[in-house]
Amino acid sequence: MSTVICVDGPAASGKSTVSKLIAQKIGYLYVDSGALYRIVTWLIKEDGCNMSSTEEIAEFAKNARVDFLPKENRVAYEVKGREPGDNIRSPEINALVSPVSAVPEVRALVTGWLRGMRSLGNLVVEGRDIGSVVFPDSVNRFYLDADPDVRARRRHKEDVAKGFADSASEGKVKESLLNRDKIDSTRKAAPLTIPEGAMVIDTTEMTIEQVADTIIVNIK
Ligand code: CDP
Ligand code: CDP
Repeated sequence: MSTVICVDGPAASGKSTVSKLIAQKIGYLYVDSGALYRIVTWLIKEDGCNMSSTEEIAEFAKNARVDFLPKENRVAYEVKGREPGDNIRSPEINALVSPVSAVPEVRALVTGWLRGMRSLGNLVVEGRDIGSVVFPDSVNRFYLDADPDVRARRRHKEDVAKGFADSASEGKVKESLLNRDKIDSTRKAAPLTIPEGAMVIDTTEMTIEQVADTIIVNIK
């Protein structure tokens, strides 16, 4: 059985950047579980599904298809032969992804995909419920957190670079991020929580390298 390193935490706590770096340093495959929830949300929206109907979303989840392939140090995703771009990270998807991710059928779909990736090799998987629900048997559980203002600043900077926000809209980015955190941590199905026995790392004043190295030295 392959080794799985679980990295959970709220938005912009550093999960993706740190997990990618760890994967690169120790030769594991990086898995972005949030991107899968974003892809499903994007597909549902493109399909013209009624986003306020849990039944329609659940029905859609039965037939959603994403292909997975190991590519360098990550598991890449393809929809109809193409990798989704930054469109899955737009403010519109940000506003829809948490309600869609709260639907149990969507969670079952993505959880099944993630568990299946274990056959591809050793993994660094980041998300919200990785250590608590997806891979509860993993002994490598980490939970990243950071001050909400710092998280909003980090995400705003990225959004400006991607053309999703202007320089004056940090407040708006913070509001959207905190709204997502709230839905993610209060939903019934697999809420964002510190997994039992996880090592909690406050990344507020840490560099990406420092966080990655802290995790690497604690891998069992
Ligand atoms: O990058 P960021 O932390 O902003 O978000 P993400 O990791 O791309 O995740 C987007 C959304 O997907 C989250 O806000 C959750 O609603 C959902 N998600 C989840 O429910 N469970 C996971 N394991 C990963 C993401
Ligand atoms: O995946 P998650 O949403 O948790 O966060 P991320 O996308 O990895 O990080 C959000 C932004 O914060 C990125 O631009 C990182 O480079 C930055 N970051 C940072 O400046 N210092 C850290 N210790 C971690 C992340």
